[in-house]
Amino acid sequence: MNRLVCLVLLLSFWIFPGEGYDPCCTQPCQNQGVCLSKGADAYECDCTRTGYYGENCTTPELLTRIRSTLKPRPDIVHYILTHYKWIWDIINNIPYLRDAIMSYVLTSRSHLIDSPPTYNADYNYKSWEAYSNLSYYTRTLAPLPQNCPTPDLPNAKQVVEKVLLRKQFIPDPQRSSLMFAFFAQHFTHQFFKSDFKKGPAFTKALGHGVDLGHIYGETLERQHKLRLFKDGKLKYQVVDGEVYPPLVKDVQVEMHYPPQVPEEHKFAVGHEAFGLVPGLMMYATIWLREHNRVCDIMKQEHPDWDDERIFQTTRLILIGETIKIVIEDYVQHLSGYNFKLKFDPELLFNQRFQYQNRIASEFNTLYHWHPLMPDSFQIQNQVYGYHQFVFNNSIVTEHGIRNLVESFTKQTSGRVAGGRNLPASVQGVAVKALEHSRQMRYQSFNAYRKRFNMKPYSSFEEMTGDKELADELKKLYGHIDAVELYPGLLVEKPRHNAVFGETIVEMGAPYSLKGLMGNAICSPEYWMPSTFGGKVGFDIVNTASLKKLVCLNINGSCPMVSFQVPDVKFQSSENMNSSSVHSTQNNINPTIVLNERSSEL
Ligand code: HEM
Ligand SMILES: *[C@@H]1O[C@H](CO)[C@@H](O)[C@H](O)[C@H]1NC(C)=O
Ligand SMILES: *[C@@H]1O[C@H](CO)[C@@H](O)[C@H](O)[C@H]1NC(C)=O
Ligand SMILES: *[C@@H]1O[C@H](CO)[C@@H](O)[C@H](O)[C@H]1NC(C)=O
Ligand SMILES: *[C@@H]1O[C@H](CO)[C@@H](O)[C@H](O)[C@H]1NC(C)=O
Ligand SMILES: *[C@@H]1O[C@H](CO)[C@@H](O)[C@H](O)[C@H]1NC(C)=O
Repeated sequence: MNRLVCLVLLLSFWIFPGEGYDPCCTQPCQNQGVCLSKGADAYECDCTRTGYYGENCTTPELLTRIRSTLKPRPDIVHYILTHYKWIWDIINNIPYLRDAIMSYVLTSRSHLIDSPPTYNADYNYKSWEAYSNLSYYTRTLAPLPQNCPTPDLPNAKQVVEKVLLRKQFIPDPQRSSLMFAFFAQHFTHQFFKSDFKKGPAFTKALGHGVDLGHIYGETLERQHKLRLFKDGKLKYQVVDGEVYPPLVKDVQVEMHYPPQVPEEHKFAVGHEAFGLVPGLMMYATIWLREHNRVCDIMKQEHPDWDDERIFQTTRLILIGETIKIVIEDYVQHLSGYNFKLKFDPELLFNQRFQYQNRIASEFNTLYHWHPLMPDSFQIQNQVYGYHQFVFNNSIVTEHGIRNLVESFTKQTSGRVAGGRNLPASVQGVAVKALEHSRQMRYQSFNAYRKRFNMKPYSSFEEMTGDKELADELKKLYGHIDAVELYPGLLVEKPRHNAVFGETIVEMGAPYSLKGLMGNAICSPEYWMPSTFGGKVGFDIVNTASLKKLVCLNINGSCPMVSFQVPDVKFQSSENMNSSSVHSTQNNINPTIVLNERSSEL
């Protein structure tokens, strides 16, 4: 508690409020107390249901005191979940225990997310406008009041160059594959779809969650153009005997391709920007095949159903498959837990849980995992630099889905936390992320640590675990409480042998689980076989996996497919030679990539 008061004092020195400033500028209210200004020089903290009281909500109630002494710190919970494999092997096989722990994971995480949502970039107080206008991303922490003194922040480009830019490729110690990285990008772009014409605070993805708008299109008009209107299926083309998305010229949907891309390589899919990299188009192709495959099964089960019903039911099945794969393959991998995660909506039926979701700006910022990207892409015996890889669908059909999957499974992604691992080719994206978060008046990295129940860092070295990086960061920001969210997440010391540091996980997991389980199909009214066309469809959802998704949709034997690079020999072959492969002329000018895309996402 003393520490908190100290911090408040420090913060008031950092942004010293003068006459006429909003008294809430110093953020005096702690522990999620709400600051209410009363005239120019007085404020009141609303501590309702925070478990604290006092002028600044800093005095814990007795129950809070007991709870906080009993509550294990996140780093300890994480340690337990990632160690003691033999104990977990036992627990994982005792259904009652596994369910109880999974239920705890889901509720303890999702309780950190305000639902219904509260603030947005233009409203730092509760309002009907902020609640009801779906064009905005929501905000977990309210934006800093408009009339506060602006802290003296370092130049965004400098921050990127000094502490984020890659010097030499640092492989992810969790051995995430590019198959993982492109899944992340493909999956999240259905709900991170900023509407930069309106500004970074706005989104075009009004579904605010897993609605598969990246497969079916955001609007009904686009969906209709992509549909075959026969047996529920999506339009497709056949190249070399294999199914691929249709061409833009044949379906007339807008896609973002630079002019030099030939017509026969302009594929059309749900998301306008998925022509950007072959990794995205690979997943788009796989999901398109999956949709049409499930349609065949539905048609067989229900010969009486019309096109519309098959289409709609198949969409629900694919949403279910997506959530299943994200929890049990994707989050399982990324968490590094020895506890076996489980997708089972019934675990929440006896809990207080809101089946709704609103995507937060901070979640978007946090998901800028561009350090995952390598220096170059090795596909079969070819090595592609960024300028060859970006906007090149020829790679998809030349190599075919099977070979892409196998190559992406063999290549290791970069480590995200720990600093200095951002590929030069995408540095412009990082500069934008920083500029946007300033425009949206984000609170500090340490403010977010507090919001998600973590201790704020007290020094640069504690934050980075690296003297040199700490010095550089200190030169840029001066005070630890001035460090911004995005660079903070990327320079934070990674957890032991992990791709991320503590903050990105402790913040990301609540958003992620809330978004997945808050989906309508997880609610008691939806979660039953009939919603998914009967037992057959329900089984497809409940047995979905990355491996099945890939292998049921390519001809011939099952290729190597995993979110983790399976063997040490593969990671070294690419990574050890990546610096020799990587040369400056191999790198596309970052401003070109950015210009070609900034209007698109
Ligand atoms: C070679 C690969 C990639 C390229 C060239 C690329 C490029 C870009 C560009 C140009 C933007 C728009 C930035 C802006 O105008 O503000 C962007 C946004 C974004 N990227 Fe990437 N990216 C790549 C890979 C990834 C990966 C692997 C992820 C992992 C999740 C990712 C996550 C995001 C997110 C979350 C956004 C924000 C989207 C939005 O707000 O609409 N990107 N990227
Ligand atoms: C509450 O915070 C303000 C400003 O941050 C400080 O001046 C005041 O002493 C604090 N009050 C208590 C009781 O700690
Ligand atoms: C949402 O807010 C924006 C910005 O104020 C406004 O332009 C838009 O019309 C609003 N949308 C709705 C549906 O009210
Ligand atoms: C598999 O091969 C058959 C025969 O060549 C073809 O009709 C089918 O479309 C192929 N499947 C996929 C998913 O490409
Ligand atoms: C696109 O990829 C193909 C391989 O499929 C390659 O031959 C070609 O050079 C690439 N295009 C560009 C513009 O780099
Ligand atoms: C890496 O590159 C060197 C030459 O730079 C080569 O001799 C070696 O065989 C390569 N290693 C692998 C695993 O490809």
